[in-house]
Amino acid sequence: MTFVKATWPRALRSQDWFGGTGKNAIMHRSWMKNQGLPADTFDGRPIIGICNTWSELTPCNAHLREIAERVKRGVYEAGGFPVEFPVFSCGESTLRPTAMMFRNLAAMDAEEAIRGNPIDGVVLLTGCDKTTPSLMMGAASVDIPAIVVSGGPMLNGKWRGQPVGSGTAVWQFSEMVKSGAMTLEEFMDAEQGMARSAGSCMTMGTASTMASMAEALGMTLPGNAAIPAVDARRRVIAQLSGRRIVEMVKDDLKPSDVLTREAFENAIRVNGAIGGSTNAVLHLLALAGRIGIKLDLDDWDRLGRDVPTIVNLQPSGRWLMEEFYDAGGLPAVMRAVGEMGLLHKDALAVTGEGIWDGVKDAPNWNEDVILPVEKALTQSGGIAVLKGNLAPKGAVLKPSAASPHLLVHRGRAVVFESIEDYHARINDEALDIDETCVMVLKYCGPKGYPGMAEVGNMGLPPKVLRKGVTDMVRISDARMSGTAYGTVILHTAPEAADGGPLAVVRDGDIIAVDVPARRLTLEISEAELEARLKAWVSPVLAGAGGYAGLYVDRVMQADTGADFDFLVGCRGSKVERDSH
Ligand code: FES
Repeated sequence: MTFVKATWPRALRSQDWFGGTGKNAIMHRSWMKNQGLPADTFDGRPIIGICNTWSELTPCNAHLREIAERVKRGVYEAGGFPVEFPVFSCGESTLRPTAMMFRNLAAMDAEEAIRGNPIDGVVLLTGCDKTTPSLMMGAASVDIPAIVVSGGPMLNGKWRGQPVGSGTAVWQFSEMVKSGAMTLEEFMDAEQGMARSAGSCMTMGTASTMASMAEALGMTLPGNAAIPAVDARRRVIAQLSGRRIVEMVKDDLKPSDVLTREAFENAIRVNGAIGGSTNAVLHLLALAGRIGIKLDLDDWDRLGRDVPTIVNLQPSGRWLMEEFYDAGGLPAVMRAVGEMGLLHKDALAVTGEGIWDGVKDAPNWNEDVILPVEKALTQSGGIAVLKGNLAPKGAVLKPSAASPHLLVHRGRAVVFESIEDYHARINDEALDIDETCVMVLKYCGPKGYPGMAEVGNMGLPPKVLRKGVTDMVRISDARMSGTAYGTVILHTAPEAADGGPLAVVRDGDIIAVDVPARRLTLEISEAELEARLKAWVSPVLAGAGGYAGLYVDRVMQADTGADFDFLVGCRGSKVERDSH
């Protein structure tokens, strides 16, 4: 930790707009004053942007305007001036074709809004899956002081006295309806109790994972990730974060001071400990690219291997986010990871201290929820990165969500050429498939879908489910919801639409999966594979115009985080020209 605080007072970047007696400064100030602002608002105090992903079409973030008011209180208390502004909000549950296709658009929006406006620091209000990485990516590319405040998870879902986890229950119940273990009426009744309050998914899905990643990276105050959205303490941490960002501006503590190689290594290890979502792989790789940190898939595999999964939350385990918060939340997990010797304790956080200072005394109040290491769900959590002729640049699998007996498996491929092909044939009793087969899905990657659909955990055929079988090996270039589970190999790179070997798998080919050896093999000869790839014809990709066209043209592959090639890197906060 080598951070040296800047001297204070000094002129801030907002004074480039508001300082002095020139025509432009008068114009900038006078228009702002139509909101009823006293003259001393522009006396050189820190001006703090509150970058808000509020939207009623992103239900997980629909309460963020109220959270923003609490942030403002804190900013005022610390002597700053808060200004709230909206950016594109990626709602996972509603946006088509996928929220992932819009992550880069939202990141671009956040970056340009932060850079182009007269703000000295920014509070990033996030919640639903893509809103957290997109805002961190945008802020990293500008690199002015930034702090993340999450909206927090919903209260636990409930149905007939039982907990119902967001997403996870939908996958479970829909398979039960298919197998006859649950009626459709019961499923629809359960729907009423799945989302009981404001907030994001309350499983350890992608939203909770990314909130945890922000905290593990040091981009939030300690404890931010798990506080329920409607808990009074969520408002408290928002207010404290408002106070803190003002001090960060005075100290000039920027994302580049926090988002170091050590911080990413901490986050990868914490992801193993929480049994976090495979989506975190994409988002952290993309974020690292924005801030100039070299990070790759092999880092994920290497750093996660020796991390036990100690958070007993759905989809890998039993409990939900309310219990996780009550048990001590992420600080208790990070303390445990640190005590295993797996944390860079000096990595700087937005607190201005080493990350360890914020967690070293964190209690664990419930060892059924945050497990002792010897009772971990798996001793090698993290993300397994498989390579081989079927995924030369890698594919990922979450061992804690997979079936142990399928981690080494050889089976006959049953190939679906698209997600539509899958839907058309999966319920067909004549489909030649049993539980030993390997289900293969193509053209659902970044370019192919476009936007990497969360369909990799495709449901099993009814005739297999009726035997009581609940898992099969599935392989695709798609993603999987963080709330999902199963022996699901995802993100194969290059994807089918980019000419990856996945494109030429055929029905009846034998595929060998060896997770301990990290191998994924299509058992055909090199010459046969080469011949098939030579004969492969690139499909006409959907979305030839508009943003979808730009996306397909410029998105990179999953192994580097699926950012746009032209957005990699930090472009800084300088804006040389002013048209006024
Ligand atoms: Fe928004 Fe899960 S759908 S957090």
